Amino acid sequence: MEFKKETFITADGSHTFFMPELNEYYHSHHGAIQEARHVFLKNGFHYFENKAEITILEVGFGTGLNALLTCLEAEINQKKITYFGLEAFPLNENQVAELNYSEQIKEENATEFFQKIHAANWEEMTEITPFFQIQKIKESLQNLILPQNSIDLIYFDAFGPRVQPEMWSLELFEKLYKLCKNDACFVTYCAKGQVKRDLKSAQFKVETLQGPPGKREMGRGVKN
Ligand SMILES: C[S@@+](CC[C@H](N)C(=O)[O-])C[C@H]1O[C@@H](n2cnc3c(N)ncnc32)[C@H](O)[C@@H]1O
Repeated sequence: MEFKKETFITADGSHTFFMPELNEYYHSHHGAIQEARHVFLKNGFHYFENKAEITILEVGFGTGLNALLTCLEAEINQKKITYFGLEAFPLNENQVAELNYSEQIKEENATEFFQKIHAANWEEMTEITPFFQIQKIKESLQNLILPQNSIDLIYFDAFGPRVQPEMWSLELFEKLYKLCKNDACFVTYCAKGQVKRDLKSAQFKVETLQGPPGKREMGRGVKN
């Protein structure tokens, strides 16, 4: 993924990166923050209203936007989060410094938390707040090793199937299913038929939910 990245302002004012060689964005051009809040927070994080502690695996840590929003939400909801941010091709410091998420989110601690999340050493579990600890893992999903039955929630935020079909394979969905605890939940912005069929074949109970603004649908799978 060592492709040229151009900063792009999405429709809600928040940044993303665009990769011209692939014609692919890191987030929806309709609104990066808006998409992250809808897909991962509303339909993932808030799926667990009654759980005081959850363990999250994000596939494709990228800009750290989902981690930042989750950290802020954990404070508000007083929920203890252990977060694994998996990323095979980390952005460099200059690219991260370009991002305007802290200003756009307009929450008091957003800048401090974003900087701490990015400053955390790879492979070390790091406490960002009493409610949010993160371990960034520099590895591919294909080579990831985590204990089975350890994850409550998967944020599946890989590039789309057109660009990276290998990330949306039945084999990887089966691997993720095994990492999940019973009642765990898998959320993704993608609602393609083949993706949903493969999630079903991996034994997830699949739902199609309303997508974020600009996208009709999104997908969620539950293990039970
Ligand atoms: C859609 S972007 C990430 C968006 C990210 N969640 C964010 O908010 O910025 C997909 C991410 O997956 C990463 N990626 C690509 N191939 C991967 C792999 N095999 N394993 C883990 N991450 C991968 C990319 O480098 C990229 O950062």
